[in-house]
Amino acid sequence: MKSSFRKVRKAVIPVAGLGTRFLPATKSMPKEMLPVVDRPVVQYAVDEALEAGVEHIVFVTGRNKAVIEDYFDLHPELIGTLEQAGKVAEIKSLETLLPVPGTTSFTRQQAPHGLGHAVWCARDIIGDEPFALLLPDMVSFGKRGCLAEIMELYGETGGNVIAVEQCQSHETNKYGIVGQGQATGSGFEVTAMVEKPKPADAPSTYYINGRYILQPEIFTLLGTQARGAGGEIQLTDAMVRLADNQAFFARPFGGRMFDCGSKEGFIQANVAFALKRADLKGSVLEALREMIAENDRAAAA
Ligand code: G1P
Repeated sequence: MKSSFRKVRKAVIPVAGLGTRFLPATKSMPKEMLPVVDRPVVQYAVDEALEAGVEHIVFVTGRNKAVIEDYFDLHPELIGTLEQAGKVAEIKSLETLLPVPGTTSFTRQQAPHGLGHAVWCARDIIGDEPFALLLPDMVSFGKRGCLAEIMELYGETGGNVIAVEQCQSHETNKYGIVGQGQATGSGFEVTAMVEKPKPADAPSTYYINGRYILQPEIFTLLGTQARGAGGEIQLTDAMVRLADNQAFFARPFGGRMFDCGSKEGFIQANVAFALKRADLKGSVLEALREMIAENDRAAAA
């Protein structure tokens, strides 16, 4: 098994997905721009990447996603209006969120051929070095970002590293599932990877939660990857082939991911992040308690 410890400097964030689960909201707005409290979903993935030490982010966009690129740009008119209104705190917060010039790249996936194909579209910008991959629908919630945790495991093991969480046994067909081998550092060796298996075929209930560190050899494999589950070019299928020559490790995430690509996960994320905010916690908790009591009264009537 060949391991690599080269530094992870770049991250890929695919933002080309259609967001059909959120229609009609996503008819004219990308799902990655839906807000969790007051930040778009994609901002959480960027913050998590920067926290983990990533220096350059490659966004894989698609049609109708131009507002994502605009979001990461300077808005002189908006700043001018805020200045006139004396909104100093707002200006400061916008400035903090602006990426350092030259540290973002945007490339296009022209047709929805699947996650594997989206990642492959970033190959020229990533080049011959290991990279992180963050699926922005999955919003990390915990003391530390999920990517920072698997960077730690990568520092111990090198190779390819995936973050995992436990799912219910009937839910294995929603995710990529890994087999659990020997404990290694803060994680374990991966013995198998299957994309969306039926519960009977799943090697465990550890699901891939949308954070990866991958070696660049994945790109050659993605270039020849046949279509898999759902008729799409699946990243997991190419990872299975890479595992013939390279080691894969997984680390169970110490926090939890909210699947903001689903309505339930999106609503839960909003509540969870609001309860972390000193300016919102009190009023949100009070409203939630009232709603629960009202719901219980209605159910008992
Ligand atoms: C993708 C991956 C899957 C992973 C999931 C996490 O699936 O293919 O292995 O478990 O993301 O969200 P998708 O959600 O794109 O169907």
